[in-house]
Amino acid sequence: MGGENVPRIAVVEGDGIGQEVIPVAREILAAIRPDLEFFPVEVGYGRWERTGEAITSADIRAMKGADAILFGAVTTPPDPNYRSVIVRMRKELELYANVRPVKGNAADIVIVRENTEGLYSGIEEVGPDSATTLRVITRKGSERIARFACTLAKGRRHLTIGHKANVLKADTLFRDICISVSKEAGVPYREKFIDALCLDVLQHPLEYDVIVTENMFGDILSDVAAFLVGGLGMLPSGNIGDRHSLFEPVHGSAPKHAGKNTANPIAAIRSGAMLLEHLGDRENAVRIEGAVDQVLASGLKTRDLGGNAGTKEMGKGVLGALAR
Ligand code: NAI
Ligand code: MG
Repeated sequence: MGGENVPRIAVVEGDGIGQEVIPVAREILAAIRPDLEFFPVEVGYGRWERTGEAITSADIRAMKGADAILFGAVTTPPDPNYRSVIVRMRKELELYANVRPVKGNAADIVIVRENTEGLYSGIEEVGPDSATTLRVITRKGSERIARFACTLAKGRRHLTIGHKANVLKADTLFRDICISVSKEAGVPYREKFIDALCLDVLQHPLEYDVIVTENMFGDILSDVAAFLVGGLGMLPSGNIGDRHSLFEPVHGSAPKHAGKNTANPIAAIRSGAMLLEHLGDRENAVRIEGAVDQVLASGLKTRDLGGNAGTKEMGKGVLGALAR
């Protein structure tokens, strides 16, 4: 065990390609910050198949004890009684802000997705002939995500509020709260209907800076925006709360790519850089980002980017760039 000030990182690989990209990200973090202490937590489909439980309260407690969590992805089992592991973690650790930078030659956008309510509140009723999922928008949830987005936008350019207030009454509340928080914070804002926003972000990406939106809209918008920077293999994210934080690639477990050493580890590596930045180590975060850019510029690419490098080879490339 390390001393009192040694940051402790929970490493949750999860399933599928999570088990390939997270070890690469972890190795890079360990190389650049030999003082970090890592400990594993096993959750997900594999665990559920073996033990009947995908995640336990003890796992949540272990994660709460960490200074930050590095997470891969979990596969959703085909069982109607199963509740999403990552949704439970976001809720129990109160990771209310999901921050998804979409950064590349074509875009420099940060999507701020509300992470605890909306359609993912878990209030559902399933009958044989009809099923209902409740979409909850609260003042508390909307205010805190709007404040988070405004704090981010203050150091940048402006805020776009993505919503569907033309149809959904709940979004009138969300939009109005976001507008009043923006005004209070002195952040220039505009608003756009989420469907139009999904297209416009692809057509005019440079017109966007920070985008705030509710849970499912942010989920969909970030996969859409991944198109601007080379796909899901490139996008990192931070799930941030007042007490805990979890960093993960935006992508899932991509089972059909699992075990083949073909997954792109960049989203996971960049998530590691976000983790360091959150712990206050901006210098090493910037170094990792620079090393990733160098490797890409050198032409080393996984298949999703049109190359033929393996997951491990990409990791070695980034380690090499860091050592230079
Ligand atoms: P996915 O993100 O796992 O994969 C979609 C497609 O994107 C893949 O088939 C692949 O072509 C590409 N892709 C994603 N990541 C890549 C990478 N690192 N390198 C190269 N190509 C990559 O989404 P999908 O297929 O909808 O879901 C698969 C499983 O993952 C499901 O069980 C789903 O529930 C779960 N999932 C878990 C998440 C989490 O744990 N946070 C998030 C999203 C999905
Ligand atoms: Mg998603």
